[in-house]
Amino acid sequence: MNRFDNTIELRRPDSLKWSGADVLFKGEDLLPLWVADMDFEPPAPVLEALHRRVDAGLFTYAVIPPSLLEAVAAWLDNRLKWRVEPRDLLYASGVVTLLKAAVRAYSQPGDSIVVQPPVYGPFAEAVTGQGRELVLNPLKIEQGQYRMDLDDLEAKLKLTGAKLLLLCSPHNPAGRVWSAEELSGLAELCRIYGVTVASDEIHADLILKGVHTPFASLPGMAERTATFIAPSKTFNLAGLHTSFAVVPDEGLKKALIDALGHQDPNPLSLAAAEAAYREGEEWLEACLAYLRANAAFAAGYLAERLPEAIVYVPEATYLLWVDLRPLGLSQADIGRLLVQEARVAVSGGSAFVSEGEGRVRINLATRRALLEEGLSRIAKALGAVRTNGEHPAQQ
Ligand SMILES: Cc1ncc(COP(=O)(O)O)c(C=O)c1O
Repeated sequence: MNRFDNTIELRRPDSLKWSGADVLFKGEDLLPLWVADMDFEPPAPVLEALHRRVDAGLFTYAVIPPSLLEAVAAWLDNRLKWRVEPRDLLYASGVVTLLKAAVRAYSQPGDSIVVQPPVYGPFAEAVTGQGRELVLNPLKIEQGQYRMDLDDLEAKLKLTGAKLLLLCSPHNPAGRVWSAEELSGLAELCRIYGVTVASDEIHADLILKGVHTPFASLPGMAERTATFIAPSKTFNLAGLHTSFAVVPDEGLKKALIDALGHQDPNPLSLAAAEAAYREGEEWLEACLAYLRANAAFAAGYLAERLPEAIVYVPEATYLLWVDLRPLGLSQADIGRLLVQEARVAVSGGSAFVSEGEGRVRINLATRRALLEEGLSRIAKALGAVRTNGEHPAQQ
């Protein structure tokens, strides 16, 4: 049996994904394919490190051990061919915390900040929730693929004078690994218009196809970029709350430290993170192989059973973005059919700032049998509307 076809008990009372779904989606016994957590057991060396730490019986206040920062730097060098100095790494409890701190550090209330929707919802909250103006540079679709719209970005930078951009690379939910051409075009605009970039690269280890280029590794970009990474998505440790900012520029680093305030690390999460970065690679490669197969399976399944759906097969992340608009259903109808008929919880497109209406994001990081069950229920519930020839709004 493939280790990712595990049968671990997932519906625990404190699991947001499994037990939180019924409350949040107002359903009953929903099959959860929403929030970006995996249903897989983390790498064995991580579990062993946690056991050792628990056996030591010491849970005092913690500091970040130099060995952890060295492990992170070695991982980035080894996996992404990106050389960073351990002294340029800052610990924070999470990437959303870092995004919010970056907004405070690199802008003033009332300033304009660019995001590229459809994009992970907290990007917008970090901007508008802290009294800044949101500037939308929507992705465009070319030959069935989401791409950056650099012409629109240049126009918006000129128009609004925005000096900060929140980049999502690889992109959630579009699943893009940005091409060298897109990234160098973006870098050029940042140089011309004096833009600082807060680059959320939390999905950088989850590459299914292609090569991820850290934005800060482009010529001249280290001086204007704060990059955010984490072991949380990579090794399925989100609940342990560990992330890092990579900030080589002294000015940007100081501003981020000031904005971030004190971050109190948890010794268990530090032990897990170090074990993951030192010994998790074999697990990650096996996990990526499983995710690639799940993505191909899901795309094939939907093409056959729900052919109207437009599926964006991800190049990175374990999230499948699906456009259901050809079915002619409203967002509310889609939500109702998926929760009440299909009894699945998927992320609704409207949670992705803009350009998400009529679309859903399906989490592929579960065992194949559950993924198939979820897709089969989705295809049945939505396909029934088509075969009845009825539009639910008219029922
Ligand atoms: C792009 C992106 N950034 C940040 C996060 C959350 O990061 P954290 O849990 O470290 O705050 C997610 C989670 O799905 C994400 O997809």
